[in-house]
Amino acid sequence: AREALVLFMPSGKRGRFAVGTPILDAARTLGVYVESVCGGRGICGRCQVEVQEGRFAKHGITSSNDHISEFGAKEQRYAEKRDLKQGRRLSCSATILGDLVVDVPQDVQVNAQVVRKEVDTRVIERNPAIRMCYVEVEEPDMHKPLGDLDRLKAALEKEWGFHNIDVDTYLLADVQKILRKGEWGVTAAIHHDEETSRPTMIGLWPGLKNEAYGIACDIGSTTIAMHLSSLLSVRTIASAGTSNPQIRFGEDLMSRVSYVMMNPDGREGMTTAVRGAINELIDRVCAEGGVAREDILDAVFVGNPIMHHLFLGIDPTELGGAPFALAVSGAVHLKSSDIGLPMNPGTRVYMLPCIAGHVGADAAAATLAEGPHRQEEMMLLVDVGTNAEIVLGNRHRTVAASSPTGPAFEGAEISGGQRAAPGAIERVRIDPVTLEPRFRVIGTEQWSDEPGFDDAVAASGITGICGSAIIEVVAEMYLSGIISEDGVIDGNLAAKSPRVMATGRTFSYLLHEGMPTITITQTDVRAIQLAKAALYAGVKLLMDKLGIDHVDQIRFAGAFGSFIDPKYAMVLGLIPDCDLDKVQAVGNAAGTGARMALLNRNYRREIEDTVTRIEKIETALEPKFQEHFVYAMAMPNKVDPFPKLSK
Ligand code: FES
Repeated sequence: AREALVLFMPSGKRGRFAVGTPILDAARTLGVYVESVCGGRGICGRCQVEVQEGRFAKHGITSSNDHISEFGAKEQRYAEKRDLKQGRRLSCSATILGDLVVDVPQDVQVNAQVVRKEVDTRVIERNPAIRMCYVEVEEPDMHKPLGDLDRLKAALEKEWGFHNIDVDTYLLADVQKILRKGEWGVTAAIHHDEETSRPTMIGLWPGLKNEAYGIACDIGSTTIAMHLSSLLSVRTIASAGTSNPQIRFGEDLMSRVSYVMMNPDGREGMTTAVRGAINELIDRVCAEGGVAREDILDAVFVGNPIMHHLFLGIDPTELGGAPFALAVSGAVHLKSSDIGLPMNPGTRVYMLPCIAGHVGADAAAATLAEGPHRQEEMMLLVDVGTNAEIVLGNRHRTVAASSPTGPAFEGAEISGGQRAAPGAIERVRIDPVTLEPRFRVIGTEQWSDEPGFDDAVAASGITGICGSAIIEVVAEMYLSGIISEDGVIDGNLAAKSPRVMATGRTFSYLLHEGMPTITITQTDVRAIQLAKAALYAGVKLLMDKLGIDHVDQIRFAGAFGSFIDPKYAMVLGLIPDCDLDKVQAVGNAAGTGARMALLNRNYRREIEDTVTRIEKIETALEPKFQEHFVYAMAMPNKVDPFPKLSK
């Protein structure tokens, strides 16, 4: 038989196939994931591909219809009933007639699902753990007394290749009704997370069920963020966030662990609180996306170890002290009904593995999203909260640790500090000659010395200073000579500028006079020094471990990183020397990693494997930590050079 070369984009996978082969079959053979719910009957429309021409024109293929068949009957029918965009073909129906380049589009939309906002433009190649599989089941026959369920399983095996299918118990009571209602045509949801494990039928619907959704959720100690995605296309349909209600039990992680230790119902109270907030978020994303809650079939959760344990209902006491033992470090598979999150009775839950007792599934997810383990360049990935989670490495070796930065970076424990919110000062500059400050406030465009500033802040007022500005103000104080390398506010300047004022035995810098008066005290500068020294010392330990003296790239994950200016982070020595244009804020990388694991089971295997290979370092136990810490108290550092900074 004549053969033709088929190249699939964007994966670049290619192979030779007999002329006449359906494109979908070619994709399957090459391991290119093309969705299909109806099993090639030309009714679901999920298997759309775009045939690009020209690439193989020199082989004599020039017209768009030469290398694929004209619309077959099935395609014709689909195109008439539903709208098949120009250039799109149903890959189950279009067959190969010559060499071709096929694009597997990322935006196959079948149902008129409203997409409110694009969360992330990153293209996630799909291969979800849950597949929707339509089959036609043989009708019962008195002479062949094989059960309805057994014939359904046989059909799923024959058409979809699932061997040895397990069935969720709750379905047994319904299977006969559903088969008859669908007149022997039904759609099964098959959960097949690992190639080597048994596939499980987790849902069953009469007729064609051409919808299935999943949620990806990052449980932060401060905020919880959730995305709702279609499992049959890559679209993120809705997103929502809320603050973690556990805050009322304790601001930071350790205070929540203490709460559990001190209160007999503490663990339960916090588990109930976080699940309650997640249930509300599910309602919100469903309402926003116009999706029924029971159509959510898969859910991925990430969080730091303490959030992870409390969400699962595990007492986190062991994580409160050395050796910081996790109850479970590997990936966790559950049903959503096990943890009080009613969706579909068959909905599955997957939690990414934790890296160590202080470095959680959120850091694993951020690692998956940013991919230090996939590249040659040495990447430092930091997620700064009250605890900084640090991952450093490349495709040869990766190490991880956490460092107790404390809440200073979040504006807590700083005299005028507050969380980022309208009214908070977010940017600060200090004139090196006059020592006069100018600043900007969240929610306004103007700097404080620009016309219109007073009107712009009239609504919110000036309420305090948030984490990013604290970094900037201390760095600017250092750059303008108000504080020494060792972080001491220079009292001699009090004679020169009214901004420098004596407060007891130390001095302060007056940033804003009025309601409220905001000063940066010596204690504030110290708090920032301690936090930044802890972060830097943690990073340094990891660099020692890898025997490197510089990093190629730095990624800041999380909200903190989105607001700070990398230059100031480096002026203060939060992070090691690096090309400034290689320092990037990546936003909620943990959420992105969770979405990747939701949409493609291969990412689950990738991160599970990577986590086992990440070397964990316990900063508290490393004798060098103290030494690095002391050097890192200076700005930017007592011993380490910052050549990139002087440029
Ligand atoms: Fe359903 Fe092609 S697989 S239309």
